[in-house]
Amino acid sequence: MIFGQKGAILSRRGILIGGAALMASSQPPPSLASVSLNRKKTKVAAFDRERFVEDCIIAHRESEPMLAVREVLARAVADHRAVLTGLGAPSKAGLDVLLSSPTLTIFAAHWTPQMNLLPHDHMMWALIGIYTGREDNILWRRKHDGIEAYGADCLFEGDVATLPADIIHSVTNPLLRFTGGIHIYGGDFFDTDRHQWNPETLAEEPSDGEAIREMFARENARRNL
Ligand SMILES: [Fe+2]
Repeated sequence: MIFGQKGAILSRRGILIGGAALMASSQPPPSLASVSLNRKKTKVAAFDRERFVEDCIIAHRESEPMLAVREVLARAVADHRAVLTGLGAPSKAGLDVLLSSPTLTIFAAHWTPQMNLLPHDHMMWALIGIYTGREDNILWRRKHDGIEAYGADCLFEGDVATLPADIIHSVTNPLLRFTGGIHIYGGDFFDTDRHQWNPETLAEEPSDGEAIREMFARENARRNL
């Protein structure tokens, strides 16, 4: 049951904290805990992508890198219209890479209207901040013979999701327009062997940067973009 577990649905402004996704199914389900973080309401006049990357790199050197980078991301998407202006409105499925390094990856992900991404993991912590549109997440966890869904969250403009390294999620843009989000990963997203699951059979398959690129190419071809 996806939505029935206590605590599985978060408030609109909540963030995802997935529990140990590697737990056996006989163990109690991990709960999603909402973490209260002080959102700074300070508005910025314009979003500067180089400055944003610089701020993330500096924050990543702090003792709690994920939380520090999250603060930077939350501040940015609090003024999501400025981010949209700074990055430009998405017009194709794809990734606008702001930073690719061995320890930190930052890109703007563009989902076409009603685009779906199959369940996948990242093998590193991840942050998602929505600056246009909406992104619905289904959370999955491993069980002895595959994966099962256990939670969901809807991310609106200005929202930030925090995904621990063991999380598995699938993503849908439910809108009839493009969704754009800044995605930040605590590692080399494009050079890490990851996993994805067939959306129909839930069979596990390998995934990496090349698999992601092919997925976007298929989506654009399907829509003649
Ligand atoms: Fe993801």
